[in-house]
Amino acid sequence: MNILAIETSCDESAVALLAGAGRQATLIGERIASQVALHARFGGVVPELASREHLRALPPMVEALLVDCRRDWRDIDAIAVTAGPGLMGALLVGVSYARGLAAASGLPLIPVHHLEGHLLAAGIGGDPLPQPSVTLLVSGGHTLLVRVDGVGRYRLLGQTVDDAAGECFDKCARMLGLGYPGGPAIADAAARGEAARFAFPRPMLRKPNLHFSFSGLKTAVAYLLRDQPDLLASADGVADVAASLQQAICEVLATKALAACRQQGVDDLVIAGGVAANRRLREMLAARCGRQGVRLHLPRGSHCTDNAAMIAYAAWLRHRQGLPIPARDRWDARARWPLDSVVAGTV
Ligand code: KG4
Ligand code: ZN
Repeated sequence: MNILAIETSCDESAVALLAGAGRQATLIGERIASQVALHARFGGVVPELASREHLRALPPMVEALLVDCRRDWRDIDAIAVTAGPGLMGALLVGVSYARGLAAASGLPLIPVHHLEGHLLAAGIGGDPLPQPSVTLLVSGGHTLLVRVDGVGRYRLLGQTVDDAAGECFDKCARMLGLGYPGGPAIADAAARGEAARFAFPRPMLRKPNLHFSFSGLKTAVAYLLRDQPDLLASADGVADVAASLQQAICEVLATKALAACRQQGVDDLVIAGGVAANRRLREMLAARCGRQGVRLHLPRGSHCTDNAAMIAYAAWLRHRQGLPIPARDRWDARARWPLDSVVAGTV
């Protein structure tokens, strides 16, 4: 089954073509057009600009993808699209375009939950992910620990009570003058810095639950820069703050993720979402998983950040398991869409 997928929930226009057969799905091709350059001078995503750029970028990307993959419309069996959650205007462009394609071609349309795409992304191109597993999903808007017992069988174990980890990276990067998107910028600066120089708090680390809180960490960085403004004037100062901040965020994420595995009696940890591309986090988790006898499953970096391959893959898995696909009157874009509404048996 060949699935053409479209993802426009935030600031990446992405398309992918995936072939699923038996237990495995092979990615035939994908294209991602980042809007970073467009939004960088505003220090963050400008929703209206994002929508217009998706509208401009999508049609030629789909055509180019089919050419790249040496396929035409007769080879496609279904169209998948991110229906939410995300920026409403940006989602509307992708969903309307996908609905148009489905109507014109007579192909079925599969609306996909963006977070379900992230949750399953580590399985793209390989064996299906082990079940049960614990997934740490860390993106710009979400920080979740989820027990995954199968496709559509998700149980939320913990989440952030305020800012997401990615949001903390982004806000601190702005304070440090490192620009947008903050995660990769902090990671670059941190590579030249001293992670032990500043003892930032490790929020919620000693609490026995699986929740996170990152807004206090952001405030700690703000106070440090207020009290020692000279730090901003030196590349070393910025690098040391970045490295110390990255270390604090990664330690909290890694500690809670492994605590979740212990608590659930699960030996497979999966990571997902943009922050899962962070090298320090990947190294730290690999070391700690090794010590705890937990197997770590990592998506490739380009499938941690937003992409359409994960949307195609989630659509294929749902289809393969015979899970319900929303009827035509439920194809609308949804800016807010709780993950627990895509558990097996519902849509
Ligand atoms: O999953 P994603 O691409 O989009 C959302 O669904 O939110 O995640 C974007 C987030 C941003 O906050 C970005 O700064 C962060 O992921 N991010 C990173 C890295 N790459 C992206 N954070 C830390 N290190 C990275 N290498
Ligand atoms: Zn995302």
